[in-house]
Order: sequence, then C-alpha cells, then structure tokens
Amino acid sequence: MTDDEESGARPGTRPLDGIDALLGGLDLSRKVRLLTGASTWRTNREPAVGLRSLTLSDGPAGVRGETWDERETSLVLPSPTALAASWDEGLVAELGALLAAEARRKGVDVLLAPTLNLHRSPLGGRHFECFSEDPVLTGRTGAALIRGIQSGGVAATAKHFVANDAETDRLTADVRVDERTLHEVYLAPFEAAVEAGVWAVMSAYNKVDGVTLSASPLLDRPLKNGWGFDGPVVSDWGAVRSLLETAGAAQDLAMPGPDGPWAAGLLTAVERGLIPVGVIDEKVRRLLRLAQRVGALGEPRPARRPAIPLAEQRRLLRRAVAAGSVLLRNDTDLLPLRPARLRAVAVIGPRATAVRVQGGGSAEVFPESVVTPLQGIEEALRRAEPRATVTYRPGLPPSGLPRPLDRSWARNPRTGEPGVLVRLLDGSGAELHAEHRLSGRIVEPSVTVEGAATVEIRARVLPRAGGTWTWAVGGWGPISLTVDGTAALSGTFALDSDDPTRVHVAPPLRCASVELTAGVEVEVVARRGLTADSGVATVLAAAPPAGDAAAALAEAVAAARAADVAVVVVGATEENESEGHDRETLALPDGQDALVRAVARANPRTVVIVNAGGPVAMPWHTGVPALLLAWFPGQEAGHGIADVLFGRAEPGGRLPTTWGTVQDDVPVLDTRPDRDGRLHYKEGLHIGYRAWLRSGTPPAYWFGHGLGYTRWEYEELTAPAAVRAGEPFDVRVRLRNSGPRRGREVVQLYLARTGSTVERPVRKLVGYAAVEADPGGTAVAVVRVPGRAAAHWSVQQRRWETESGEYLLLAGRSAGDLPLGVTTTVGRPADAARHGGAEALGVPNLQEDDGERSPVVL
Ligand code: BGC
Repeated sequence: MTDDEESGARPGTRPLDGIDALLGGLDLSRKVRLLTGASTWRTNREPAVGLRSLTLSDGPAGVRGETWDERETSLVLPSPTALAASWDEGLVAELGALLAAEARRKGVDVLLAPTLNLHRSPLGGRHFECFSEDPVLTGRTGAALIRGIQSGGVAATAKHFVANDAETDRLTADVRVDERTLHEVYLAPFEAAVEAGVWAVMSAYNKVDGVTLSASPLLDRPLKNGWGFDGPVVSDWGAVRSLLETAGAAQDLAMPGPDGPWAAGLLTAVERGLIPVGVIDEKVRRLLRLAQRVGALGEPRPARRPAIPLAEQRRLLRRAVAAGSVLLRNDTDLLPLRPARLRAVAVIGPRATAVRVQGGGSAEVFPESVVTPLQGIEEALRRAEPRATVTYRPGLPPSGLPRPLDRSWARNPRTGEPGVLVRLLDGSGAELHAEHRLSGRIVEPSVTVEGAATVEIRARVLPRAGGTWTWAVGGWGPISLTVDGTAALSGTFALDSDDPTRVHVAPPLRCASVELTAGVEVEVVARRGLTADSGVATVLAAAPPAGDAAAALAEAVAAARAADVAVVVVGATEENESEGHDRETLALPDGQDALVRAVARANPRTVVIVNAGGPVAMPWHTGVPALLLAWFPGQEAGHGIADVLFGRAEPGGRLPTTWGTVQDDVPVLDTRPDRDGRLHYKEGLHIGYRAWLRSGTPPAYWFGHGLGYTRWEYEELTAPAAVRAGEPFDVRVRLRNSGPRRGREVVQLYLARTGSTVERPVRKLVGYAAVEADPGGTAVAVVRVPGRAAAHWSVQQRRWETESGEYLLLAGRSAGDLPLGVTTTVGRPADAARHGGAEALGVPNLQEDDGERSPVVL
C-alpha cells in the first residue's frame, strides 16, 4: 500500500485576493528590486502597489527588533530546548503569541524562528536553539510555536532548511545524507511546519549533496511542489552567493540588502533571457502574499495592539521555566524542599548569580531584568517561617576570561553614569557623535555618521582586586587600547572568517595584561578603525586577576557542610554554546565537576542545577541525590527554578534529547566536515535515542526521561487490532497516579517492527499526550498515531510506502522505559478488513479475536 507524497499536504499555492492584479502593475525592474533586502533587516517598499517594507528580526528566544542595542530590551524566553522539553503544545503556542506581541511592539513583521534543525550531535553550537533530536517532537513543538506566532499576525520562519545541524564551516559544509534519511528525519519537521501553515521558510547556508541550499532543488520539491508551501523562501543572511543558480531555483528573497548578487545582476540576467520572467513573477507573488498576510499591503501599518501587561508576561515566562525544567534524578525524594523545615541553605557556583539565560549568536536579545537562581531562592525563603539563612559562595575563582564591561563595574567618564561612553571620531580624532551605553559590547553604534573613521569605547573602572588584569578589545581592523594613557594593545587584525557571527556579532578578543591596584580607578580607552568589511562590532572587556582556587573551594565546602541543603548551579559559559562554532567538548568548564563532587561529599543533601542549552558531561551524576536541568531558562530563571525547588510547581520537563554520561559514549558526535568539505551523516536514520538503542551502551538519561513530584503506574495500553496503512488511529494508555500529589505525566508512544524488509530504527516516537490526575486517580492518555507513522520513504518510488504486517506499539515514560506494549496489524484496506472486520478499523480494541493481541507487559 502506498501513501503518496502529496497526501495530507495542504493544497498547493492559494491565490490570495488581488495579488496577480498587483503583479501586473509592476514593471520588471520594480519586481526584481523587491527580491533583495533594502537593508540588514528590511525588505524594499513599493508604493506603486501600496507595499510597505517588511521588518524581519531574530528569533527564537525573544524578538530583538531592528537594532542590536542593549537599551532596546526584549522579553527572554527559555531556550528552544526548554520549550521542547515541556512536551506541551498549548504552552508553546502561548509563548508563540507572546513572541508575536513582542514583534508587534517592536514593529517586526517576520520573526526568524523557529529553528527546526535537529540535535544530531550534542556538540552542535546551536543545539540550544533547536528543539530536539527527534523529528516528531521537533515538528509538533515547531508547529505549535508557528501557530502561536502567526495567531498574532506575525509571520514565523521555519529555518534553516535543511540539514544545518552543526556550525563548523557552516557556510560551505556539504552534508551527505541518504535520501530516505533526509525525508524521514531532517525534512520531517519542515513538513510539519508547512502543514501548520508557516508563512516563510529560510534556506540554510550549507549544501546538501553538493548543492548550496539557496540553489537547491529541495526548495521546489518537496517544499513547494510536494508539500504545497505557498510563502517565500528567505535566504539565510548572506546565503545567496551566486546569481543564476540561486535565482533560477525556488529561492525567493535574498537577505540582507541592499547589495548582493541579485541586486547587482538579476535584472540584466532576466533581460538577457537567462532567467524567465515567470520565475521572477512567482517570487514576487510569494513575497506579496507574505506582505498581505502580515498586513503590509495596501493598508496603513496596523495599529499596535495593546500590550499584554508585563506582570502577566513574566508570569507566563516563569511558568515556562518550571514546565521545561527536567528533574533527572531525585533519590530519597530530596525535592521538593520544604521551606519551613530549613534553617540554612548554601547556594554555590558562579552560575547561581551569573545565570546564563540564553545562547549566543543571532538569537541573542537584551533582557530588561534577570532573576538569578540566588535571588529566586532568597525570595522564596523570605516568606517562610522560620526563615532560613542563605549563604552564597561561588566555589570557583573568577574564570580569567574577559567579560564585556557593564553597569556594575564601569562608569561613563563624561557623565559619571554607570556604563560606558561610545564615540565616533573622524580621521583627525575629532568627535562626530557620542552616546552613553550600558555595555562594553557595542555590536553597532546607534547611528551611522558620515566621515566616521574610528569607534571608541571609554570607561572608568574601579578595580576591586589588585594584580594582573586581562584587558581585551574585540573586533577586526586597526585596534588599540590604553589604560590611564599607557598603550596596552595595538595592532591590525585581518578578517579570518566570512561567518557573519564571527565578523559582525562576536569577533575574537585581543588580550593584554595590565597591572592594577585595588581601589585606584583607571580610565580605559579602546579604539577600532572603521575599515571596509571589518564588521560592525567593537568590544571592551576585562577579567580580574585569577584568585585562589583552593580557598574558593574550601569556602564553598564549608558553607555546604553547615547547611541543611546545598544547591549548586553549574553550566556553560559564553564561549561554549553559541552560533558560529561547535563545541569541542561536553565537559563543564572551569573545574565545575570538582566543585560538584566536593559539595556532594560535604553535604548528602545536595541539589545540582545544570544551566546549559544542551547536553554536558556529568561524570558525577550518580553521586548527587537531586539533579535538575534548567537549560537556558530566560529572564525569569530564578523564579521558575525556585518554584520547582520548593514545590510550588512540578518540574514539567522531559528530555528532548538523550544525555550521555561521558563524551566518549555518544554514538553520533562528529560535526566537522572532512577534507573535501563533506559532512557524512553515516548513521542514517539512527540519530539520538535511535543511535543509543543500536549502540547497546545505555546513556545517562534517555530521551523522554524526566521526573515529576508524584509516581505513575502504567496499567493498560489498548490499540486497534488492525489499522489501514496511511491512516491515523488512536491508542489509549491508562495510568494511575500512585504518588503523593497531583501531577502531570507525558505518555510517550513508540513504534517498532521486527522482521521488517526495510531498515528501521529499533523503535521511534510516533506520538505523545499528557495527562493529569490527583493522588490515586486514573487517567487515560489518548495518543493519536499519524498515518505516516509506519511508512518509510521509498527511494525507488520517491514516495511514502507502508509495509503491511505486525507492528509493536510501546507506551511509557521514555525511550528506555516502556512498560506496556501491544501489537497491531497494519495492512492494505482489504487485508485489514478481513483481519478484524471493517468496524474494528480505527476502533480501540484490546483483545483481538485470535487472542494474539492482548497487551504485552514488558
Ligand atoms: C543565522 C540566522 C539568522 C540570521 C539573521 C544568520 O547568521 O544563521 O539564524 O536568522 O543570521 O540574524
């Protein structure tokens, strides 16, 4: 039985009112002009048809808006990994609506999110920004976010189409993936996005099978002519690097502008007949359709909707932190902590105060405020009677890595305000512009001034510690640094990369050592010559002298020993989870492993909180009684974490990705292309838990794993005895809350088939549903199994096919813990009818007539 590629897809291109008429009103040059951006974040306007320019913005953990300026703050959501960890499409849609409200507040029409690439390797630099290792969970979470965003009249952009699952050499990496894997694993989330009605898709930088994605035939089929995507394909920033290949493909909009190969040569190419006019018309049609959807065509810009009250928005963000936090272990039911029973709490680890709320790169936004774990814990205990004391100890000396100056330790030399002075100077050093900024990381000054030759960051800094400080300037081109008038650094640094993140957003730091005296203020001046193509960012950063590691550890251990409970927050640094490069190692940096071990030895009641966007190695994990994964939790971090610690909320998260104990165990790790620039997806269909199942090595925590504050007994799984190939059906899982409090359980359903004639994963997720019940209560999870679940992509036939026969359905709490199973027969309609009777099809049936389909308890 076959299930055609087209089936289940949305109808093809939908003509929206009047678009063809508008198209007729544009001459060729006007049409072509529309196909390249007007600026970094805007498209061109076309008054002739009442089209205003569209504003695009990243995405996906907040909406930055048109400027990269720390004074233009945004709400910061938990990282996409945390959203997927909630397995809660309702919540994700609510967060999508919040993003839409933020987009409208900032005048953004098109949000560059969600990121639908997969967690193929835990080393992937943008792991935090993608949802999961599983195509079904990624597709469902992405679809929910898209629905939420677009419900607010803002376009979502499914990105980066496709196989952009690592960052090493991302502009050129040539992913070699077999066609079946491409369809079943990497394209599947994008297909779900199209089914959810996404309004835009972004093509990736990389290649698949030797063809760069902005010129790829995959944009045509399956994206547009297979699945029926009717919006524009927007390029990743700078990804249109050729003329005829990309313009002749189904790539529609080249961003950013105003320059680029299309701006330079597309009009001539069409005039010379190298690109048919019809191809241009189709691109413009799609762009106009997008404009119509976001209200940018023929109408004045829509009034900004009344903002959702900030307190309400923050409550939602706080709820999302708890909903996405994954409790990996809770031996002896240490959590939740009971505030009234605590006398002394030790909070330990640099991340307890310097919590990392988001990953790095184009996804970064600037929060108005951040609640740290320490603040959240203190606030939660403030209300308790008697009130516990809270002692904070970092446990580690400063890392020695320079951090951009900020308001807490720098002041503007001209005004005295906390922050820095940024100036633009002309060739003679005369001031053309000055502004007060809050950070030493200036991605772009707020104005462009003609004749500006130098950007300068100037600050007065009062060193708390004396000794050798590391000072650093980040950027490209001619750079200098003076401290109290003495030159500390000078040189010219040529670009070594064309990756936009490294060039414009996070340039490398050039360091110098400077001796400072505690309490003696110094004036620091960083300058960077503005040369052509040297990027926009300038950074002034510093690190205090390295402290005494042994003393810092001893203080933390002493605090832990004196406390009823120790809470250690460990995690990633800015250097190791960011766009533009992959991680080298999963190890926690800066001696954090030793810190965890020492604290856990000092206090058997130790809770470890991991603050990271993706997997880290936790060689100590079995030695700590409670282990909570908080991801990059967004700005309400401390509130949400405290809610979980003290039981105001259940930890709702279940792992969206399998976590190994040590890096060497991870079955799919490599992110680096070979010498020919090829990155081979040798593992085929078997990524994530599928790879772990095949490897035979158990991971530390399986995909899907996560504890709540109650317990569940899985009692019964019922499924139809026979189903028709290609048709969805429902499976019911009955379970009982056998624990002490009301809770929520995410019931997961996996499909397996032995004796298959085609290669298959050991098992794969096909559906899930969450239930809630009071203590002692029973709940029935109804899990919808999509018609595609048993199908495979036939490379010979170039369509979906389904093998008839018996399949095993397994239900439980993770890919590695599936207490219930039942078989069902998938067949051609006629077979299925003979087998169980037509009325049995699609009808839940615990017991088949021949007795072979009774539930199997594994
Ligand atoms: C990233 C995209 C992002 C774009 C615009 C690119 O470097 O890969 O995800 O949307 O920049 O910031």
